[in-house]
Amino acid sequence: MNETRHRVLDALADGPVSGPELADELDISRSAVWKHVEALREEGFEIGSGDAGYALDSVPEFGASAVEYGLDAPFSVEYHDSIPSTNARARDLAADGASGTVVLADEQTGGRGRLDRDWSSPSGGVWLSVLFRPDVPMAHAPVFTLAAAVAVTRAAREAGVEASIKWPNDVLVRHGDGERKLVGILTEMEGEADRVSWVVVGIGVNANVDPADLPDEADPTSLSAERGEPVDRRLFTQRLLEEFDALRQDPADVVEAWREYATTLGQRVRVETPGGTIEGEAVDIQFPGALVIETESGTEIVSAGDCEHL
Ligand code: BTN
Repeated sequence: MNETRHRVLDALADGPVSGPELADELDISRSAVWKHVEALREEGFEIGSGDAGYALDSVPEFGASAVEYGLDAPFSVEYHDSIPSTNARARDLAADGASGTVVLADEQTGGRGRLDRDWSSPSGGVWLSVLFRPDVPMAHAPVFTLAAAVAVTRAAREAGVEASIKWPNDVLVRHGDGERKLVGILTEMEGEADRVSWVVVGIGVNANVDPADLPDEADPTSLSAERGEPVDRRLFTQRLLEEFDALRQDPADVVEAWREYATTLGQRVRVETPGGTIEGEAVDIQFPGALVIETESGTEIVSAGDCEHL
């Protein structure tokens, strides 16, 4: 959202304010004020106009301006009602040189998960990808996946859902009958060994989605199913992006934050790694994201794999 439009919204939120007052305050013409008001209405902001002037009556439920308005993080948001995959779009933007962009969608028609699996993304979710260019070596990039897991866990908890993290990047809700998946994270990147060029962190949150509409294998849940009512996707997305922004700037602190929410530590696990299966007790995590497992034959440090809690 451009700076002036943001200032128009701020003034309207404190409204009512007349067109001439707004024009004076923002140092723009009255017709420019009118154009901004009309453009905001087009985007779903409800702006009343009475005798005392304009006032902001409501903010749209979701969308680029809705999320950018009041967002305390330096991201610009590109919104799509429907798109094949926000990660694919973010990769294209990366190739064009963009940075600090969040691609956000209500629905994905070709969502991708880890290990090239499909990721079901019906309307009502929070499907987003954050594109940025951190100044770190490639080997440190896994820490941003952990940061995303922590950020989304904190946002879910603020929304009243007791989420926790399964290594490396599943966010789950524990129930008496087991664990149900709430969020998946897919990080992609490009660069050279000593420096990342770009990172795309894709976060798929089953927000206001009926778990019955998601594939059974994942044992899915959603924020709305856990809460018994829909979540405010705008506020949830803002909290998620603000937490992620703070964490990405302090990679060294991410591992400690991750430990706080991890369900994997202290559990018996089976991890399918590219080099074979490792079974034992997960005892710790190491920067930038490796799992430390005590097995019968000694300590194993696992950087990547599919983890099952036993
Ligand atoms: C997983 O397999 O658990 C990871 C799923 C990641 C899904 C998200 S939804 C937003 C972004 N766009 C995609 O196509 N995938 C990621």
